[in-house]
Amino acid sequence: MAHSLQIGDAAPNFQARSTQGNISLSDFRGKWLVLFSHPADFTPVCTSEFVALAKAKDRFDAIGCALIAVSVDSLYSHFGWISAIREGLGVSLNFPIVEDPSLVIGRAYGMISDRSQDASAMRSSYYIDPEGIIRAVTTYPATIGRSVEEMLRIVAALQRVDQGGAVTPEGWHPGDPALIPPPLDVQSFAERASDPLWFYKFEGSSK
Ligand code: BEZ
Repeated sequence: MAHSLQIGDAAPNFQARSTQGNISLSDFRGKWLVLFSHPADFTPVCTSEFVALAKAKDRFDAIGCALIAVSVDSLYSHFGWISAIREGLGVSLNFPIVEDPSLVIGRAYGMISDRSQDASAMRSSYYIDPEGIIRAVTTYPATIGRSVEEMLRIVAALQRVDQGGAVTPEGWHPGDPALIPPPLDVQSFAERASDPLWFYKFEGSSK
């Protein structure tokens, strides 16, 4: 059975060939990183995602977050796809795409379903913090594209939470008020308990 990584696990290191040269995951320590798998090169949903990610790359850079794509396709397939996208759509894929023909990375991360009829990876994304810890994971079916806005939002929300003193509500975006974390000891609970909404307070609220 493939091992599926969970939040809090250390991201397994790997060394692999990519469209931007050899990559070792450990080289990305000290930065936020989104490592994401895609089912196959030259497919419509993946093309839409990669074009949107390339256009948003400066926004990931601005929040100190690198991008690494990985699929079971060979490096030469990746080169051909990059070239076709550049020629056909005028977009340069400006992040590394790793080859994983031996499925070593896919299996280590659980990107490949045990029940899949082929070896293509699922559409999984691993949000890895500067210490190399997996902080969020999403998995979509091959038929549904990810939202690049949501990918950016997840990284920004993790960074906001790491600043301390807050958790992020539904639909939070940078600049929006965050929520005060729930009390974790009886003293902090007692300080708030006279308010019927003691469990739901935004930062900066008076009570
Ligand atoms: C796609 O990216 O369009 C795709 C890939 C695999 C199966 C179905 C769709």
